[in-house]
Amino acid sequence: MSQMSLASVSVSKKRVVQKYNLISPVYDIFGIIMESKARARALEVSEITNGERILEVAVGTGLNFQEILRRNPDGWSDGIDICHKMLRRAKKRAIKTGVRNYSLQLGDCRSLPFADNTFDLLINQYMFDILPVTDFGRITAEFRRVLKPDGRLVLVNTTPPEKPKDRMLAWIFCVYPQTFSKCRGVLAEPFLEKFNFRDIHREYVVNLSFPSEVVRSYK
Ligand SMILES: C[S@@+](CC[C@H](N)C(=O)[O-])C[C@H]1O[C@@H](n2cnc3c(N)ncnc32)[C@H](O)[C@@H]1O
Repeated sequence: MSQMSLASVSVSKKRVVQKYNLISPVYDIFGIIMESKARARALEVSEITNGERILEVAVGTGLNFQEILRRNPDGWSDGIDICHKMLRRAKKRAIKTGVRNYSLQLGDCRSLPFADNTFDLLINQYMFDILPVTDFGRITAEFRRVLKPDGRLVLVNTTPPEKPKDRMLAWIFCVYPQTFSKCRGVLAEPFLEKFNFRDIHREYVVNLSFPSEVVRSYK
């Protein structure tokens, strides 16, 4: 990586950490009202079998990580996030499940602290839509690296509206530009194809006019 792109990665990382440290106390209000349906669907298409090795990247406040733990009490689940205040909330939620087979740690999706071919399932929700598109390739390659052969990748992203009535997102982003200006609808499929993920299955899920994509594919 050039010096210039290394510098822009660290600037964008600093901004993301500042932003999520700031909004962590109220994140769940938006996260539950606008995104619950897609998060629930992501769990369904993940088809978790108890005993698996699972990674959630960008666990946030742990809204789905707690559900992963409940479905995988005898396996091992890892969660990482770049923001310590979001992670602190995820840790509180994880403790409440009573499950002990997990680890939650600070980490960056662009350089995952795990060996090649480690995970049966990698799940990642509402992260690509806040990051620069120039990082997408590097992140997708990292996801592929840590998945086992035939491992499942499940992504959830804010996605462009397919119908005029699904445009509430654009309205919210106009009203709160400081908080949401970097979030926009994205499409994961071209990157999954480029990095040779197979059997890509995409669903369009709308929750209170907020459009998301739920995409499952295999290494
Ligand atoms: C919109 S929140 C989504 C949180 C959670 N996945 C959910 O669905 O509720 C985005 C999360 O991505 C995390 N994040 C942003 N950049 C990251 C990076 N480079 N590596 C790991 N996590 C990152 C943020 O700290 C934040 O917790």
